[in-house]
Amino acid sequence: MSVLIPMSPLVAETTVKWLFLSGMALSGELAGSLALASLAVAATIGLILWFRRQHRINAFEQELEKAHEVIRNIGRERDLAQEEVFRRLYEERELNKEKTQFQAQLAEYEKYALARLALGAAHEINNPLLGILSHLELELNITTDLEQRAEIEQCIVGAKRISNTLRGLVNYARPGPLVLSKISLYRLVMDTLGFLEGQPMLRGKALENYVPAELPHIRADANQLSQVLMNLLLNAAEATPEGGKITISASKLTYVESVEIRVSDTGCGIPPDILPHVFEPFFTTKKGKGTGLGLSISQAYVRSHGGEMRVDSVVNHGTTITLTLPVRQDSAEGVGEAESEVVV
Ligand SMILES: Nc1ncnc2c1ncn2[C@@H]1O[C@H](COP(=O)(O)OP(=O)(O)O)[C@@H](O)[C@H]1O
Ligand SMILES: [Mg+2]
Repeated sequence: MSVLIPMSPLVAETTVKWLFLSGMALSGELAGSLALASLAVAATIGLILWFRRQHRINAFEQELEKAHEVIRNIGRERDLAQEEVFRRLYEERELNKEKTQFQAQLAEYEKYALARLALGAAHEINNPLLGILSHLELELNITTDLEQRAEIEQCIVGAKRISNTLRGLVNYARPGPLVLSKISLYRLVMDTLGFLEGQPMLRGKALENYVPAELPHIRADANQLSQVLMNLLLNAAEATPEGGKITISASKLTYVESVEIRVSDTGCGIPPDILPHVFEPFFTTKKGKGTGLGLSISQAYVRSHGGEMRVDSVVNHGTTITLTLPVRQDSAEGVGEAESEVVV
């Protein structure tokens, strides 16, 4: 029977040398037993060394397993930290969204409160003002002195201006209920342009109409829409020097049931720092001449139709105001609706 014992090369060499020397020096039975004993000693030493090596390998493997565990723990902690970062970023984004919504709501409340205040003040001022106006007109009728007449006329112009501003303010704060009818935009634009043609402020300026006659009819408040167009055309005329051009065009949008109306001019344009303010009530750059209500009232009217207004402008090149209006109106509460008719 042979027993295979793993042995390190050094132990094996020592054992063989020992056996050889023993074999040379001794002979017979003594030599045999001695060789056998040597073999046993060598095997024992080999076994001990093998166990020690095995023990070191086990210890090394355990260390390796511990290191792996540490790496796995670090990985888990990193994943958790990443999750936490994402969670916080998400929370921050949600908070910012809420903050923006809250600020918008607050601005709406402030506007509402301001509008109610303005409405009250407008009524308080307008009533005595109308009294003053009629009194001035009476005075004008009975005055023959030219100098006095000129003064009274100046007062009447001033009082009418205040009254117009107040009317604009009331319109802005409380646009009347929509009186809807079926409108041909082509006809509405033609009528508005017809009214403006020949006005001194359009002298020397080209007025071009590109609104196609075949545009679908829309349901809207003809009176409000006509006021909006008038405001935009007047602004364009005021901004455009002689030799300039004012264009009005319209088209049906492709994928939505809306129409787009554009009023463009080749005028002075609006500087980027002014642009964000043009829809604010009472914002005007026409000192002493403008009321600053044209665009804000127009926007209020367009919004009450469920539409939007946009302004694009390049200084010294011109401005384009774009209105987007839905073709149909969802019948909303408080919306007065006239019999369907086509504006002619
Ligand atoms: N077509 C335009 N070109 C240049 N500026 C414009 C134009 N339309 C509006 N604006 C600017 O927007 C401001 C506000 O317009 P608006 O509300 O109509 O008030 P107002 O005409 O009484 O000043 C104007 O004072 C002007 O600075
Ligand atoms: Mg204006």
